[in-house]
This record gives sequence, C-alpha cells and structure tokens, in this order.
Amino acid sequence: MTENRIVFVNGRFVPWENATVHLMSHSVARGSAVFEVLSVYGSERGTYLFRLDEHVSRLEKTADTLEMKLPLKGEALADAVRETVRRNGVRSGFVKIVGYYSGIAFEILPPEGTLDLAVFVVAAEEDPLQKGVAARKGCSLALSSWRKLDPRTVPVEAKVAANYLNGMMARLEAKKRGFDYAVLSDTKGYLAEGGTESVFLVREGKLATPALGNILDSITRKSVLEVSRFLGLSTMEGNLPPEFLMDAEEIFLSGTLGKVLPVERFENRTLSPVPGKVTRSINDFMERILSGREEGFRHWLFPVS
Ligand SMILES: Cc1ncc(COP(=O)(O)O)c(C=O)c1O
Repeated sequence: MTENRIVFVNGRFVPWENATVHLMSHSVARGSAVFEVLSVYGSERGTYLFRLDEHVSRLEKTADTLEMKLPLKGEALADAVRETVRRNGVRSGFVKIVGYYSGIAFEILPPEGTLDLAVFVVAAEEDPLQKGVAARKGCSLALSSWRKLDPRTVPVEAKVAANYLNGMMARLEAKKRGFDYAVLSDTKGYLAEGGTESVFLVREGKLATPALGNILDSITRKSVLEVSRFLGLSTMEGNLPPEFLMDAEEIFLSGTLGKVLPVERFENRTLSPVPGKVTRSINDFMERILSGREEGFRHWLFPVS
C-alpha cells in the first residue's frame, strides 16, 4: 500500500519510492538521522495527531542537543506534518518525521548546513507492529543482558538513529529467547526502558516507573503519569531494581505505537489477571482521550484539518 503514499521531502511532495538518499550520505554511514514518531487517530469527530506540539518540541530539542539545524520548526513543521497526513488520507496510523544529512561524508564530522527533512505517514494496517499489538491481550517481556546506553557516552534523550543499536540488540536477544519485548537495566543496574518502550509496574498498589535521566523523555510515559494522577492513582518515578518485576502486581510497556501494552509473562513468571486493575483503568482512560471523549484532554489532540 505504501506505493500510493506521498512523502514530504524538503518542502516538496514526492512518491514514496523517490524518498531516498545516497548510501554514502552521513546519516546512512554514521546513523545521524534524528526523528520523531507520532500517532494519527481517526474518530467520528475527525482525524487527530496525538500531542503534535510535544513531538515537534522534542525533535527541536534533539537537534539542539546534537548541534544540528532543522530547516523547519514550530508551527511550520507542524503544518508540514498535517499536510502530509491530509494528502495521504490516512485516518489511523503513524507519522515519522526524519531530519537527516543527505550529503556525502567520508569522515565522521557531519556536513555543514541544515538537515534535510522528510515526513512519512504509514497506515495502521501497513504496520505489522500495530496490527500485532492490537491483536494481543498482553505481551511477554525478557530482562536483557545488554545495558541501556550510559548518558555519559551519548545523549540518551536524543531520538537519533545511532542510539537504536542498543534497543535492536536487546530485542534480537529477546526474540531469540522466545519473548516479544526486552527491558534493559542501566549501567548502575536499575531498570531503564525497552528498545522503543517505557516500562511501568504496580507494586503495593502504587504505579512506578524509572526516573528520567537514563531514558527517553517519552511522550506516552508523560501522558500515562498525567492520566494516573488525574485518576487519583499514587505514582512514583525513581531507581527501580529489576527484581521489582519479579513481585510486581502488574507490569506494562508504553509508547507511541502500542500506547499501553500489558505484560502477561516476565521471564519465567506469569502475571494474572491481564490486564490488571490499574493497567486497565489507565488504558481505558487513554482510549477515551484518544477518541476525543475527554473534554479536559482535548488539547492533546491536534486536528489534521
Ligand atoms: C527508547 C525509547 N523509549 C521510549 C519510547 C516511547 O516514547 P514515546 O512515548 O514518546 O513514543 C521510545 C519511542 O520510540 C523510545 O525510542
């Protein structure tokens, strides 16, 4: 289906197959592509982008951290995203914004000048992960033998392709061991996050998640925490030993693509019932927000038209 897609590339709309770069470009050779992934939701009230403002500012922050210059920012970037979704007529799926160096570079220093910019939109049915997540009640989770990137070696809060080798290795290991997802500990031994997911657990009725510092400042994580406080749940962000996953009442992963994904097996432990009470209440409320039924959270939804 992607053959009918059009892609925003540096201010022009081009067919999907023409959105390409040279293999010797800096972003292919060194992984210097910065990006954002955000979700598109269709409801009877229209098509929305979830927390578009937050995704645009996170991309700007990533670019600043890495000393890169985006050609579009703020409202102009948000408009390019809306226009790409409109032109493709996608009502449910995700948008990927990519800032990249198409210039050829033989050395490690990036080319001078601003980044190139592309915006893609993918429909939910074209994405195997979204289809898979929707079809399952819960997932299995392994504790990775890999450690999360240390913030003293690279800026872990930057969404840049080069950082994702870490999560890729963790997921490959988990898959080989028969698990769907992996969670990594940080270099101090505390729980960090998954390859592209945040992790939450419920312990003695309290919702807990690793503190910021060694993980991505996830927009879904932030939303889940805001929703939980709104629902009157007790929450904590801190240093969590991985052993907490062995006696947690509930565990779930969160991220743009799966939103709230309950864990039904952690290592050799089976959790039941799945989803648990807390996970279900958060998930149900998130679904109400996404379908536009929660007035107080309508500012999280950005109409496409
Ligand atoms: C490392 C990492 N953690 C967490 C997440 C979830 O972040 P968000 O909710 O902003 O999609 C992602 C998303 O891709 C990620 O790459």
